[in-house]
Amino acid sequence: MSLTLAPMDNWLWYLSRSTGIVAAVLAVAALVWGLFFSARNTGTRMKPNWWLALHNWLGGLTLVFIGIHMLVAFANTRTGLRFVDLFVPSNTVGWAIGWGVVSFWMFVIVVLPSMAKIRRRLPRRAWHVVHLLAIPATVLTVVHSYQAGSDSISGSTNFMRFLAILMGVAVYPVSIRLIGIAQRRRALA
Ligand code: HEM
Ligand code: HEM
Repeated sequence: MSLTLAPMDNWLWYLSRSTGIVAAVLAVAALVWGLFFSARNTGTRMKPNWWLALHNWLGGLTLVFIGIHMLVAFANTRTGLRFVDLFVPSNTVGWAIGWGVVSFWMFVIVVLPSMAKIRRRLPRRAWHVVHLLAIPATVLTVVHSYQAGSDSISGSTNFMRFLAILMGVAVYPVSIRLIGIAQRRRALA
């Protein structure tokens, strides 16, 4: 059985949607800032440290908003979510929510080991590989928003445009980063 989400005219419904949308925008912003920083494509107006500090803030806030979004979705009894559904995907709620749960765990794995105290103890390469989970996590966020969002269920073109723009904004810095890696490899060869 999969979860059917009936739009309801109450503040919890608005709050779960708005916190979800803010979390998704923050995730894409953190992704863009991280990629520009790592690609050393930050221009000359702002110092690289500024980009990194803002990236860290955006990353931390992403997880905070995801947490609020999950709690509000749980508090909204119309969603029928049990507490365990926030952490374990299951047939009871279906994959529309399941993708949200998977991306939540991926964001936890991206953000927690990045905290200075933990990161200092990890080999840089291992931390970096784990950190790159941010990219599939963001993709799954969009899949979840597309499948679970009331606006996409009701066929809103504006919401589709919003999701397409979010993805589009992320693709550009991913390309810049990949081109940078390819150029560096060629120069080394
Ligand atoms: C508080 C949380 C976070 C901290 C402290 C943090 C820290 C960092 C640091 C230090 C880098 C630079 C790595 C380098 O030296 O090149 C980086 C890169 C990056 N971060 Fe984060 N990050 C956090 C959260 C996030 C989140 C939530 C996302 C995505 C939604 C994200 C996505 C990225 C990406 C895509 C890169 C570029 C990786 C690469 O292209 O090699 N980060 N992050
Ligand atoms: C355990 C994890 C999660 C649960 C239980 C959950 C729950 C929900 C629910 C019930 C909805 C439907 C709200 C509605 O329209 O009635 C929704 C939509 C949404 N969620 Fe999540 N979510 C989770 C993770 C995430 C994550 C990690 C993000 C972003 C980083 C996110 C972003 C969104 C967005 C953008 C929407 C669409 C809002 C709309 O209806 O327009 N969710 N989520």
